[in-house]
Amino acid sequence: MFEPGLIEKFKELKTPFYYYDLELLKRTLQEVKVHGIDKGFHVHYAVKANFNVELLKIIRQSGMGVDCVSGPEIERAVETGFSPSQIAFAGVGKTDDEIRTGLKHNIFSFNCESLQELEVLNGLAEKEGRTASVSIRLNPNVEAKTHRYITTGLNENKFGITIEKLPMLFSILPELDHLKLTGIHFHIGSQITELKPYYDLCEKVEIVQRLFEKEGHKLQHINVGGGYGINYLEPDAEPIPDFKAFFQVFEENLTLRKNQQLHFELGRSVVGQCGSLISRVLYIKEGLETNFAVLDAGMTELIRPALYQAMHRVDSLTSNMSPKMYDVVGPICESSDTFRQGVWLPELRRGDLVAIRSAGAYGEVMSSGFNLRERIRSYYSDFAKSTL
Ligand code: LLP
Repeated sequence: MFEPGLIEKFKELKTPFYYYDLELLKRTLQEVKVHGIDKGFHVHYAVKANFNVELLKIIRQSGMGVDCVSGPEIERAVETGFSPSQIAFAGVGKTDDEIRTGLKHNIFSFNCESLQELEVLNGLAEKEGRTASVSIRLNPNVEAKTHRYITTGLNENKFGITIEKLPMLFSILPELDHLKLTGIHFHIGSQITELKPYYDLCEKVEIVQRLFEKEGHKLQHINVGGGYGINYLEPDAEPIPDFKAFFQVFEENLTLRKNQQLHFELGRSVVGQCGSLISRVLYIKEGLETNFAVLDAGMTELIRPALYQAMHRVDSLTSNMSPKMYDVVGPICESSDTFRQGVWLPELRRGDLVAIRSAGAYGEVMSSGFNLRERIRSYYSDFAKSTL
């Protein structure tokens, strides 16, 4: 991924920064197209994974729609050229303003997460003289086998309406005459690396579909969300997730009704592998039990290790000396500001460059200004696009 010429270029740049391999992104999108979009599936890119405009522009060209989770994400998607007819809007806490933004653009679907949200949406749609297309987000109580902070489809999670509450939903729906029920929506979690949870989800979708049909509701679309995981420790062995296997689960295990569309919301699997956080070693400190490599990037630039105990591969870009064991840490005053513990890397010195890999999703977008840190810059494999 990092040819010598590129590393030479990196050496001239102020660190830390995000680097995006746009060619890899395009190849990834091509796989989604071949195995998903070309099969007739509707794929929405989950903007929350990375709202960087340069990436969004490329993703737009792939034919994907978007899944947004805030008013500003909807605005950004529209500004980048996504059609509102391909925008799904999810989120447990949509504000009135955000709902109005969705109504103004007449988006494809409001993925509603509670009965009260339906009532509020109905009221606002009435005021605006519109009818909102609604998809009901259901909590299928399916174990996604991922970190508990990114599990979303269990009864204990705040997301979606539980299946047990469906009778109540069916009783209030007829009164909500500014809503048009068009579909159902699920999203069971993120960084899901086994297919089993998706098989379980397919079973639940069928059960839920029948409950809606029993009440006379025909659903135009089923949205099964996203969550497909990436290989964090061996990104070079698996730079593109196996989308064929992923889409096949749904193709073979979901019984779609006549003219019914199947929608997906993929975030991490699309942008995760194309991004790296490039950082310089500030200090090497010999501890009593380990050596610390103190980087100029920290949890303020990539919070995933601190928040989810996530492990990202760290590659040395400039040293090829014999390996030593390091705790790779950031400069922030928090002990959780640690990227990796006990990792073997070619001996590092002050000034060496490292790449923290698989950082394209939930990296740059989750960066913060804690410690009054400067906002991180981005560079792209097409350097012409970079703000140098
Ligand atoms: N759809 C909905 C409704 C979602 O909530 C999410 C992600 C997605 C789609 C996209 O999921 P993906 O394909 O990216 O897994 N910050 C965490 C991940 C949080 C995911 C939140 N929801 C992390 O860094 O692991």
